[in-house]
Formats: sequence, C-alpha cells, structure tokens
Amino acid sequence: MTSQLSPERLLGVGMGFWGAKALLSAVELGVFTRLGKGRANLAELTEDLGLHERGARDFFDALVAMKLLDREDGVYGNTPETDLFLDRAKPSYVGGILEMANARLYATWGRLTHALRTGRRESEDPADEDFFGALYADPDRLRGFLAAMSGVSAGPAKAIAAKIPWRDYKSFVDVGAAQGMVPVTIARAHPHLAGAAFDLPAVGPIFEEFVARNGLSDRLRFMPGDFFKDKLPTADVMIMGHILHDWGMEEKRVLLAKAYEALPKGGLLVVYEALIDDDRRENAFGLLMSLNMLIETPGGFDYTGADCQNWMREAGFAEIRVEHLLGPDSMVIGVK
Ligand SMILES: C[S@@+](CC[C@H](N)C(=O)[O-])C[C@H]1O[C@@H](n2cnc3c(N)ncnc32)[C@H](O)[C@@H]1O
Repeated sequence: MTSQLSPERLLGVGMGFWGAKALLSAVELGVFTRLGKGRANLAELTEDLGLHERGARDFFDALVAMKLLDREDGVYGNTPETDLFLDRAKPSYVGGILEMANARLYATWGRLTHALRTGRRESEDPADEDFFGALYADPDRLRGFLAAMSGVSAGPAKAIAAKIPWRDYKSFVDVGAAQGMVPVTIARAHPHLAGAAFDLPAVGPIFEEFVARNGLSDRLRFMPGDFFKDKLPTADVMIMGHILHDWGMEEKRVLLAKAYEALPKGGLLVVYEALIDDDRRENAFGLLMSLNMLIETPGGFDYTGADCQNWMREAGFAEIRVEHLLGPDSMVIGVK
C-alpha cells in the first residue's frame, strides 16, 4: 500500500506558490497586455517589458509550460484564455484580482502561521479595525480593490443574470456593489430592469465611471451610504455578494435583518459567496477564502449554504434555497 504512495501531489501543492507568483508577476509586468498587441520573440519581449536577460527566457517558457502563453518557432503569444481575460486593454480583463493578490495578499499570506496563532488580521495596520476605511484611504488601493472585485464577480454575475427569474421583477439593488460588475451584467441582460448600487461614498465615482463605460448610466444609479449606519434601499430584489463573509457573526445578523426590513413582501434576497459545502470537505477555495478573511478582516469568515439558510430563516425569510452559480460560487435565495 505505502509503496504505491507518491509525494508528488504534496510537493505540487507545497511548491504551488512558484507558479502562482510567476503568473502574478506576468500580470504585474503586463506580459499578456503586451502580447495582446501582437506576438513577439524573446528579445522583443524582454526589451519591451524591461527585464534582465538572465531570467527572461525561463520566465516566458515557464508560462508556456503552465499553458499561460504559447510559443511557435521562438515567437510567443497569448493563449485564447490569457488573451481574453488578462489583456488589460480588453473589457473582459479580470486581472484586477490577481493584481491585488500580487500587491497585497501574496505578502500578507506569508504571515498565515502568525494569523493562525493570534486570530488577528495581517493586512495593513492589524490594530486598525476599520478594514475598508484603511484600504480606501489610498486612492490607488481603492481603485485596485474595486477592480479586483469585478474580477471575482464577473463569472457569478453572468450566472445570477441567467438563473434568477428576472422577468418577475422590476428593480434590484446590489448592496456593496463595488465597481458594479454585477449590476452592469444584470442590466445588460435584462433591459426592463432598473438597478441601483449601494456602497460607501468613496466608491461612487468609480462605479459611475464603470457604468458610463458600459453605456448604462440611464438605468443604474449609485446610492451612497453605510450599511451599518443607514437603512438599506428598497427594491424587488436585493443582492449581497461577498459582503457577509467580510464580517463577524453579529454584523452578519444585522445586515440580514436590515435586508429583510428593506425588502417589500415577496421581495428576494440573493446572497452569493464561494459558499463552503455543508460537510466542509469539498470546496477548498471557499475554505481558503475564509482564511483570506482571517488575513484581511477583523472578524470575517466564510460559511456553508446551511449556515446561511439558518441565519436567513432567523431573519424572517422563507422559501430559502441554495443554487450553484459557477466554479466555487453559489447563491442563497430567500423570499420575504
Ligand atoms: C468584498 S466587496 C464585494 C463587492 C461585490 N459585491 C462583489 O461581489 O464583487 C465588499 C463591498 O462592500 C462595501 N462596503 C464595505 N463596508 C460598507 C459599508 N459599511 N456600507 C456600505 N458598503 C460597504 C465595499 O465598499 C465593497 O464594495
């Protein structure tokens, strides 16, 4: 039995950060954006990206071996996937989340062991309990974070646009909408809907710019507010994506109670996250996301579909169900 065991998988997981960091550096350097303009040989690529020749060839060929670039007769190009999703010049770019991972999470995850010992966040100033205030104090970090959210929500947004029976509703509000990937995707797919985004005032200009770029300024409006201090706006459908996991249990309950209060009778609450499977053994991404909340936030944690169903039932919602969206993401839907 033991002779059939191999350490290969363990070493692959343990050394996985090599490949991850090569991709994050490629995004940071703009490899895919450069190749989005046209294919290039080693010398051209090295020069255009300002690299030293010592590591350049190994770097590009490692990306080829990881199927992130292709190479023919010594000339490099994007794969269809990297060309669509990692060329900054394309509207389909989702690299914001990788830029954020490279700029902040890569270093803070290096202190995971410490966070596991202390139970305290490792981001920015760990003593600062105001995660978003600290993050948004720097305009570049604000913009970077909001763009990163578009990266994580682009896939689920399409699934939410497809899976909710939108023809039965006239309006929706996305609470904590960030740059607005979810409202933009839903509004584009369903021209009869009027939508709103509720978020901290600092987010407004960046949301409005994104919505204008998508030609939806007449149907999507920004509502500034603080969901702990203000009432939530009303609409037929309220969405909370990657919101509850940022907060501890007490705040989770407050937000669900406020959602219930704001919705009309028959209104829907849609909560989506990288929901952990109920048995807590399959969705590794959801579980690691929860550790990311340990690293990033004072009290946040991810949760299972069953956890969320219980909390929503306690808040007063009925007909609660969990539906898979895409990859690690699922939504929990409840009716007031
Ligand atoms: C993790 S992001 C999720 C963004 C988006 N819903 C998604 O799924 O990609 C959390 C969002 O909540 C917003 N937020 C944080 N604290 C808030 C508060 N007190 N009031 C309103 N919005 C808040 C942030 O600005 C950010 O846009």
